Amino acid sequence: MGQNRYREINLPGEMVNILTDWYAQSAKDYVWRQDTDPYRVWLSEIMLQQTRAETVIPYYIRFLNDLPTIQSLAEAEEGKLMKLWEGLGYYRRIRNMQHAAQIILQEYGGVFPSDPKAIRSLPGIGEYTTGAIASICFDLPIPAVDGNVLRVIARVVGLSASVDAPQTKEAVRVALEKIYPAAGSGRCGAFTQSLMEIGQTFCIPNGAPTCERCPLHKNCRAHALGEEASYPVRIPKKEKKEVDISVFVIACENKILLCRRPLKGLLGGMWSLPNREMHMNENEVYRWFAPVGERLLSVEDMGQHIHVFTHIRWKMHGFSISFENASSVDCSKVANLFETEEFVWATPREIAEDYALPSAFRKIWDCTHGRSV
Ligand code: ADE
Repeated sequence: MGQNRYREINLPGEMVNILTDWYAQSAKDYVWRQDTDPYRVWLSEIMLQQTRAETVIPYYIRFLNDLPTIQSLAEAEEGKLMKLWEGLGYYRRIRNMQHAAQIILQEYGGVFPSDPKAIRSLPGIGEYTTGAIASICFDLPIPAVDGNVLRVIARVVGLSASVDAPQTKEAVRVALEKIYPAAGSGRCGAFTQSLMEIGQTFCIPNGAPTCERCPLHKNCRAHALGEEASYPVRIPKKEKKEVDISVFVIACENKILLCRRPLKGLLGGMWSLPNREMHMNENEVYRWFAPVGERLLSVEDMGQHIHVFTHIRWKMHGFSISFENASSVDCSKVANLFETEEFVWATPREIAEDYALPSAFRKIWDCTHGRSV
């Protein structure tokens, strides 16, 4: 067997009926399961990629209220889009979605394509999302293999290969494809979503899975051996890079400075509280603001806050800054201290209602929020 080949996985075929029957009787009544409209399912799948279902629900409802169609998404103003996504993180997802909506408008007359190849070619849609949309919306036998599904399958078959290896994922996809309900059977979407839900609800990662409630417990090798905790086999994760960052809430006449981050890189193009990628102490902060030419009234230490991204862990040190003589501060001089594409002085109300501030900065903002600035 060549190095890139995977070992074949054989799944018990009876899984399909067990899961689709269970789904018909017991699946959760999520709002995105109320119909199979591709735009709505697509939105839910993108939101659910990095975020828990309970968190997604209000975002999902609000988004569809404001942007109910592919056309409205394609034509939405960027600021509005970011505000609707604020707090969900991974903002590239929604930028990609808008780009895809524009392509659907231009190339498919505004109708979401049903051909899996066409679905897969849209920005931000990978193999997983293609499988989810194709099976849920178009009743096609195409698996959607995410971390939850991998864990369920790894336990069902007692998989010794690591689920972090791309070959394992491919082997699971192929194994599922072999047992999927037939196209047009009305059960493809149920099978896809039952696997996802089992992985979220019973067959959970850390801590004890609730096997006695899982419809697959009689078919599960890991359970039969009493070795649920040994699966899935994982490759240890690399440590995240830790970055110190000093973050400032700078108040001037009841307005707060917001800076727009460079388009490329982490949180590209998002509004942020001004910051420097280094740990600063209070004295350094006083010195850093000296070029503004106005004396600082106060530098208040807002403490340390941690924010974890996919590959980076920000150790944020917050400072609240105000000037002695706010009315004579040259605002652009303050903004020029920071590397920014654009800046704005926004009222607290505007920050709440108009500007999407990523969660990392909200943590610092919330410490000062509500106080007079
Ligand atoms: N996670 C990803 N897709 C999902 C779905 N359709 N239902 C529940 N959880 C999910």
